Amino acid sequence: MAEPLISNVSDTARWVAVYRAWESARPDALFRDPLADRLAGERGRAIAAAAPKQARSGWPMITRTKLIDDLIAQSLAEGCDRVVNLAAGLDTRPYRLDLPASLTWIEADLPGMIDEKERLLAGETPRCRLTRERVDLSDAAARAAFLDRALAGASKALVITEGLLIYLDDEQVRALARDLARPAARWWILDVTSAAIVAMIQKGMGKHLDNAPMKFAPRDGVAFFEKIGWKARDIRSIYRAAVRFRRVPLVMRLFAVFPDPDPRNPGKKFWSAVVRLER
Ligand SMILES: C[S@@+](CC[C@H](N)C(=O)[O-])C[C@H]1O[C@@H](n2cnc3c(N)ncnc32)[C@H](O)[C@@H]1O
Repeated sequence: MAEPLISNVSDTARWVAVYRAWESARPDALFRDPLADRLAGERGRAIAAAAPKQARSGWPMITRTKLIDDLIAQSLAEGCDRVVNLAAGLDTRPYRLDLPASLTWIEADLPGMIDEKERLLAGETPRCRLTRERVDLSDAAARAAFLDRALAGASKALVITEGLLIYLDDEQVRALARDLARPAARWWILDVTSAAIVAMIQKGMGKHLDNAPMKFAPRDGVAFFEKIGWKARDIRSIYRAAVRFRRVPLVMRLFAVFPDPDPRNPGKKFWSAVVRLER
């Protein structure tokens, strides 16, 4: 039997890197990630080719990247003194964003992903102080010990989980949300997707997602995190931003006449957002 396109959850990092490479090649690019094409590789391109047609251009992930870039800049302007990127995958923001050289940026991901990233990026120079750790973030003890180390000495840290939560179940996300509620962690940027979109992607990808099933799609959207004590400081609808950035396919632009679903009750509607939470 042929090897599956996605053999484990870390392969999904190659998938999103493809979209960053495509966007970077546009003359009107919203961001430029010159390392993305190398990192995505053949496997990443094969996964992207299998994506459902509504999202084949990658507009949701491209928009998500841009929205998160902007919220990182905003957090830095508001005094952020550390960035901790959980499940950083093949993200290269420390190499491409305009960052203070003194900023400490810590990435965590599974050992295989970090090994490969370090090999592929050997010789590249980040713009800030970058370190990486091999951590299984679903292991509560390992995660807590990592957060102790990563947040030590910080007072206004920004935690990012881009593209991670969807692969966790509700209980794992709840545990992570409680674990991140530490005085040093001031902000948490995440993306959240409604059940209708998750079902559409799962259906479109079919068996390709068997080894990385998508799970987290809270019916109460942003309120899921508010119930754990986080405040939603910024809620940016991915669709709405994509319309503004002119990245939504023509036929889908027609839906812009409808009001956005309630971010605290997306229910069965199509909705996804980038959210910056604050303690
Ligand atoms: C869709 S990718 C997103 C990567 C990156 N944040 C981005 O947006 O390009 C999901 C990432 O989650 C990581 N991941 C999934 N489960 C994990 C776990 N238990 N511990 C650490 N990393 C995990 C995978 O290795 C992969 O890099």
